[in-house]
Amino acid sequence: RETLDDAIEAFGHGEPVLVHDDADRENEVDLVYPAHAVTPSDVARMRNDAGGLICVALSHDVAETFDLPFLHDAVDHPAGRTTDIQYDDRSSFSLTVNHRETFTGVVDNDRARTIAELGAAARNPAAADFAGEFDTPGHVHLLRAAPGLLDDRQGHTELGIALADLADVPPAVVVCEMLDDETGGALSRSSAKSYARDTDSVFLNGSTVLEAVRAD
Ligand code: 5RP
Ligand code: CA
Ligand code: ZN
Repeated sequence: RETLDDAIEAFGHGEPVLVHDDADRENEVDLVYPAHAVTPSDVARMRNDAGGLICVALSHDVAETFDLPFLHDAVDHPAGRTTDIQYDDRSSFSLTVNHRETFTGVVDNDRARTIAELGAAARNPAAADFAGEFDTPGHVHLLRAAPGLLDDRQGHTELGIALADLADVPPAVVVCEMLDDETGGALSRSSAKSYARDTDSVFLNGSTVLEAVRAD
């Protein structure tokens, strides 16, 4: 399954989509779920089958409402000033958070709670009490989408939020990079496609999302 409609249908059911950004960018495939629907077994799948960082991307509007900074703006330390990543102009990292009703925050039950509550808060951000519900530092990384979304930046952050918009689910998605145990690198696009076939998951090219949004 590799069409935009397949991806929209998967998101509508709370199922993941494997998203490849671009060969000219990170050239990585992330396992992406709509955040509001995430369960502890989904977090286990991200850890075991993907293996990268588990991050929740929020739309620009939601991040503004929650008053979330970019980490490189918030950290007053020489190492926090760098924006010279190799594949893009800037990173989308904001803070790390836990939901306040978690214990350590890292176990699958805790991370699923944090992720799902972020999805719920993103459904109606003006009504959410972000600072009352979450605290930092935590065990889920937050990412902020660019203000102009895909017009500004074409990372998994923006591709995931664009897909949430197309699927009409809250603008909060959890992303986790697919890594390769054998090579020590990112899982190749072709291996990720095989994984998608084996697990009956949807595989989507970032360019498919870009074309859909630009045609809209
Ligand atoms: C956080 C990352 C990942 O690459 C993630 O896909 C989000 O970043 P980007 O929007 O740059 O693709 O760095 O683990
Ligand atoms: Ca990255
Ligand atoms: Zn990425």
